[in-house]
Amino acid sequence: MDRFVVHGGRPLEGTLTAMSAKNAVLPILAACLLTPEECVIENVPMLEDVGTMLRLLESMGAGVSRSGRTVRVRAGEEPCCEAHYDIVRKMRASYYVLGPLVGRLGHARVSLPGGCAIGARPVDLHLKGIEALGAEVSIDHGYIDARARRVRGATVTLEGPNGPSVGATANTMMAACLAKGETVIRGAACEPEVADLAGFLERMGAAIEGAGTPTVRVKGVSRLRGCRYRPIPDRIEVGTVAVAAAMTKGKVEIRNCRPGHLGAVLEMLEQGGVEVKTRGRSMVVSGRGRPKAANVSTAPYPGFPTDLQAQFTALLSLGRGTSVVTESIFESRFMHAMELNRMGANIEVNGNVAVVHGVSRLRPAQVMASDLRASAALVLAGLAARGRTEVLRIYHLDRGYERLEEKLGRLGARIERVRG
Ligand code: EPZ
Repeated sequence: MDRFVVHGGRPLEGTLTAMSAKNAVLPILAACLLTPEECVIENVPMLEDVGTMLRLLESMGAGVSRSGRTVRVRAGEEPCCEAHYDIVRKMRASYYVLGPLVGRLGHARVSLPGGCAIGARPVDLHLKGIEALGAEVSIDHGYIDARARRVRGATVTLEGPNGPSVGATANTMMAACLAKGETVIRGAACEPEVADLAGFLERMGAAIEGAGTPTVRVKGVSRLRGCRYRPIPDRIEVGTVAVAAAMTKGKVEIRNCRPGHLGAVLEMLEQGGVEVKTRGRSMVVSGRGRPKAANVSTAPYPGFPTDLQAQFTALLSLGRGTSVVTESIFESRFMHAMELNRMGANIEVNGNVAVVHGVSRLRPAQVMASDLRASAALVLAGLAARGRTEVLRIYHLDRGYERLEEKLGRLGARIERVRG
């Protein structure tokens, strides 16, 4: 397994261009199953998870080709309706084929995604959504088997104990595009990636209103067509780089970003004393010494994103004073805290609350990544700590960051990838 050797203690400086959003690209690729015609997706990042989604589509008989960052998908007249365990176990987001298959073919057999390091992550709301549209769902040998002669419009509320679900909103919206009649999704997730998926579906000819708000209306149409589309930038990659600039007391310009998608994050950075200047689709982030302590609670969009909680916890580990970080979306998303403590941080975790007693500096150490965003937080800590830090199991990182060592390397970071 590859690992990173991070030689920290240098301020990051320079300019970086953000990639397209992983969490928009994945459902958009799955949505290509909704039409037999060719879809062309531009500026697709080279991520492990994207590779997995393309392999999944190919395993279902879709024609897939890639030249550079442009991906072409043609699902054809009769895609296979099964998403096999061998692929789904590698990436939960494989469940994004459920909605398109039920909506277009009236049948889907999708392996249940297995366990996950950050929480139980049930799929009950996904099933609730497609059942409301008339699908009969059974769980058989670890597979979701969903059948519907023709999906029909309905009103459904998709809010769970931890709030709205991004995945269930996306799946229900995709299935509803080809339904007979109108669907109203209440308690819908408002993440920019959901609105971007709707933008793609509309480009295919779907009739959607209110995407990005808690109430989404989808008027079913009889057929969708192929199209060309460029997804939104990755606000989580942008937020990660912004925190890296703050932690290394550097100055970084980030281009091709949407500052408006990061409202809660930029506010927290500024409260902490980090300087943020935004202009159109770029921003400049400058770290100014140790940040002020702050209390952060993750929440559904437009609240503070859970996918930046680990990176912010790493930043606050260098805070002046004590911060409280509350994780309200996933039950066990503090695996990075114990690893940061190995680097001299002073974090106490109690259930979904971490009390972060700021320290003046982090020390280099060997640490282990446990999930995608935790691994990013450990790389940032390594950049802030003067000396040599080893981050093991970076395969987690490659799932959601595109050659991070090279991108940060262009900002002056010294990160070696050691092949394992
Ligand atoms: C998406 O996951 C993202 N993944 C996650 O990013 C992100 O953390 C999450 O949304 C929240 O923003 C992708 O887009 C591929 P949810 P998703 O359904 O859709 C509960 C990353 O790092 N829930 O919005 O799976 C669930 O357990 C990843 O890029 C149910 O109870 O998240 C959680 O507590 C990690 N029943 C909450 O809702 C359901 O059927 C929100 O989950 C579905 C979800």
